[in-house]
Amino acid sequence: MKGIILYTSKYGATKRYAEWLKEATGFDCIETKNTKIKDVMQYDTIILGGGIYASGIAGLSFLKKNISQLFGKKIVIFCDGASPYEEKAFQQVVSHNLKDALSGLPCFYCRGAWDMEAMSFGDKTLCKMLQKAVAKKASEDLEIWKKALMEAGTEKHNWTDRAYLAPILEAIGQTGD
Ligand SMILES: Cc1cc2nc3c(=O)[nH]c(=O)nc-3n(C[C@H](O)[C@H](O)[C@H](O)COP(=O)(O)O)c2cc1C
Repeated sequence: MKGIILYTSKYGATKRYAEWLKEATGFDCIETKNTKIKDVMQYDTIILGGGIYASGIAGLSFLKKNISQLFGKKIVIFCDGASPYEEKAFQQVVSHNLKDALSGLPCFYCRGAWDMEAMSFGDKTLCKMLQKAVAKKASEDLEIWKKALMEAGTEKHNWTDRAYLAPILEAIGQTGD
């Protein structure tokens, strides 16, 4: 089986997952922005991953744009964010991102990383502003992603863990061994 892993990673967490997946599967692995649909069409299995930014899965537009040309392929999506896994919150991310032709595609969550020091000036400013603004609100009133940013705080975290890959490997018919 020929497969490819496409990833979009701003600060490295999704890239780490993509590389672990490459090790586990032997699939090719490339940044989504550096690929073309005609090359991707040569593969039977496509795993696409991206970090979650304000509830959106980075790099998903590649699939949205090209899904009609990938008919019959095995497609699996994964995303990683700062929040701990929570079924309801994740289902919201899924329904927000996987609409129309993408709805029903298997999608998995891996917990990512968080390092405000490493962020671009724009991201850091946005996160600091949000953290200040939402600190005053009751946590149950917060949108899920804002709550995630609040909880992440200013400390550096790395929650990436190979264990998150097990359901992805299962979905493409490979075990984690
Ligand atoms: C501006 C901004 C918005 C974010 N929005 C979310 C979010 O909505 N939900 C979430 O769980 N994590 C959110 N995060 C955290 C990232 O998804 C997390 O750091 C992820 O691991 C990044 O992956 P990457 O480094 O591969 O891009 C956000 C981070 C930034 C900087």
